[in-house]
Amino acid sequence: MVASAAMATGRGKVILFGEHAVVYGHPALAAGIALGVEAEASPAPENLLTVDPWGVQVAPPGDGALQEPGEHADLAEAFAAAIASLPEGTDGATAVRAEVALPAAAGLGASAALGVAVIGALHERFGVTLSAEALSHKAQAWERVFHGNASGIDNHMAAHGGVARFQKGKPLTPVALTAPIRLLVAHSGEAGSTKEMVARVAEQYARNQGKLEKVFSGIAALVDQGELLLQRGDCEPLGELMQLNQALLSALMVSTARLEGLCKSALAAGAFGAKLTGAGGGGCVIALCPAKQEDRVENALTGEGATTFWTTLEHHRRERTNASA
Ligand code: MEV
Repeated sequence: MVASAAMATGRGKVILFGEHAVVYGHPALAAGIALGVEAEASPAPENLLTVDPWGVQVAPPGDGALQEPGEHADLAEAFAAAIASLPEGTDGATAVRAEVALPAAAGLGASAALGVAVIGALHERFGVTLSAEALSHKAQAWERVFHGNASGIDNHMAAHGGVARFQKGKPLTPVALTAPIRLLVAHSGEAGSTKEMVARVAEQYARNQGKLEKVFSGIAALVDQGELLLQRGDCEPLGELMQLNQALLSALMVSTARLEGLCKSALAAGAFGAKLTGAGGGGCVIALCPAKQEDRVENALTGEGATTFWTTLEHHRRERTNASA
């Protein structure tokens, strides 16, 4: 096997419809975004992962670990899982440097993008180019370390990109759009923990499975309708579906006063619809706007202290980089 420096990327994502229900086997619609993670792997005396701009450095747990016991334990464990995912017979330690362009704990899939980039770079370093499917499969173990019972949607989107329908245990289905769709992403400034929000929904599910299954079925119906509207580029009714999904996410108690406030402001400024994206409990909202109202909606949200950027939903196949040196 070749020992050389290599690079790989992982994308962030937005969930358009279906978060949380997707953990229970229902479908969801999501899109990869341009912001993500780039990782570079090169031969080194010891296995080492550096994550910038977090200023974090970890070695796999055990002898020689740099970090104090318990410090960045999740990341060190996930890195160990990434190394363990290399093919048998792979020989040689690796230093991986990852550059994260996504905010963490924002519902944009930063941990999955990091996992996909690190695992991709580790494999490229040994001359193994993984398919997007193999990469997302290997990144599932990474995601489990951070999020416990993760559905797999984040690692699939981080590896594949594009706009897609995801359902546990089924192949990811790309959604073909007639035209690109612009979406405003607004970060509330609140941090949201996916693990905690998934656990919160699981507690409710354990108490009242029947009620939650009804909510999930409602969300699944929005996913089905949303897919058709996305394909047709019919943004006004798509916005209405986002409103309905937001109401159902509130019923699951994963929204916050701040996220509700941002959604309301987006609507008041002329958005077709707005909802939280990802696990909730903080993080981002997404808003779909008529072209003429884009500035107004963005100004309304930045006026409330949110940090915004635009992303374009479009059909996209993952580009792989192999910068063997
Ligand atoms: C997180 O981006 C989406 C959730 O549905 C969790 C998951 O699917 O793993 C909340």
